[in-house]
Amino acid sequence: MKQPVEIAPAQGRLGVLLVGMGAVSTTFIAGTLLVRKGLAPPTGSLAEMGTVRLGKRSEGRSPLIKDFVPLTALGDLVFGVWDIFEENGYEAAKTAGVLDESMLEQIRPELEAIRPMPAVFDQRYVKRLMGTNIKTGANKLELAERVRADIRDFKEAHHLDRLVMIWCGSTEIFMTPSDVHGSITRFEEAMASNSDEISSSMVYAYAALKEGIPYANAAPNLSADIPALDRLALDNGSPVAGKDLKTGQTLIKTIVAPGLKARLLGVSGWYSTNILGNRDGEVLDDPESFKTKEESKKSVLDYIFQPDLYPTLYSDLCHVVRINYYPPRGDNKEGWDNIDLVGWLGYPMQLKINFLCRDSILAAPIVLDLVLFLDLAKRAGMSGVQEWLSFYFKSPVHAPGLYPEHDLFIQLMKLKNTLRFMRGEELITHLGLEYYD
Ligand SMILES: NC(=O)c1ccc[n+]([C@@H]2O[C@H](COP(=O)([O-])OP(=O)(O)OC[C@H]3O[C@@H](n4cnc5c(N)ncnc54)[C@H](O)[C@@H]3O)[C@@H](O)[C@H]2O)c1
Repeated sequence: MKQPVEIAPAQGRLGVLLVGMGAVSTTFIAGTLLVRKGLAPPTGSLAEMGTVRLGKRSEGRSPLIKDFVPLTALGDLVFGVWDIFEENGYEAAKTAGVLDESMLEQIRPELEAIRPMPAVFDQRYVKRLMGTNIKTGANKLELAERVRADIRDFKEAHHLDRLVMIWCGSTEIFMTPSDVHGSITRFEEAMASNSDEISSSMVYAYAALKEGIPYANAAPNLSADIPALDRLALDNGSPVAGKDLKTGQTLIKTIVAPGLKARLLGVSGWYSTNILGNRDGEVLDDPESFKTKEESKKSVLDYIFQPDLYPTLYSDLCHVVRINYYPPRGDNKEGWDNIDLVGWLGYPMQLKINFLCRDSILAAPIVLDLVLFLDLAKRAGMSGVQEWLSFYFKSPVHAPGLYPEHDLFIQLMKLKNTLRFMRGEELITHLGLEYYD
């Protein structure tokens, strides 16, 4: 047994601050309320349902993760939100149209009590949206100060011990890191001068990190993944994770692709298309927001297939991703994948996948796990990029100079080994020679 990491106990209440109260946020909040009343199971949540094997296979030790590491109890979560719309949690969940009304009725008073704080919003970054519940301020630094004041007021009003912030807002336009993102000083100067290089999500991320609370980005846009905010996260002891939740089609892609590669099957083409009719789909109908999503969705295969190491199998891969806004489907996304495979002696084969999924049903347990694990990381004294949470993201944030790990199974091993490491347990390598000594 190695020395365990010191982890502060999960005492008291944990505030969950969500930016954006749309389909993902309301499905997560409503689901957590239902689970804690015992009205539904937390299906899809590794933190709540997963186990972790400890020691040798012959030892029979596989506790639940939530019994192995000290996670905050669901009953101690308190929800706070910002949104540009004034609807309360119940109305917003009805607008999102993900959960049945009969389910929502069972938690109606709790949902109605969740009222969005005025948002930091600029249509420059999300072209297809406009609302009225918006903060005003002389510049972006002042807006960040208002968000910080919201955070402190929320903490005091609800007698909270700790907080976590997750960006569940709309996908912002495609941006790349620039000079003003290079250091905290330049970033703050840019905020004070209202630079276009500072998006709304960056204002929230900055506010969270200044308050020393963990921050995750559920969307693909550039947010805390810039050098200035990396530095701030390390200086203030904030764990950070992102970005873009790995749910429908990309989840399946990162399950199937490692299997094909493991068998050295070539792939000459991978055509992915989706129809989606929720508000997210409407926002992504704008080319600038779609570009952000497309970049995030396309990168996974390059890293999994490693065409530089396997040029014969993957260097000519034609990878196409399309998202079409189709209102009749609402949140029920349909994804089609056509994969053109190449086998022994170059013989072609095809694989077709038709996934009729529910976007926010897949996303909600991920948000729950991120809340619980980021809070754990904070109590364990971890700060900056949490690569072990890559498991949850399409575009995992990573240290400069490293390539991101996209293979779902490697990501899961990394996550569980991190938990073992925290508790001073042996890491599992799957070598297994000891069983045959
Ligand atoms: N559902 C999924 O499976 C999934 C997967 C990966 C990523 N995402 C991303 O998660 C995000 C949320 O998805 P969703 O389906 O809930 O979308 P949604 O459109 O239903 O909700 C987004 C909410 O964010 C609000 N918002 C936008 N900008 C804001 C701002 N500056 N401040 C406060 N609120 C703001 C909007 O008003 C809206 O209510 C999107 O960016 C989406 O791309 C979702």
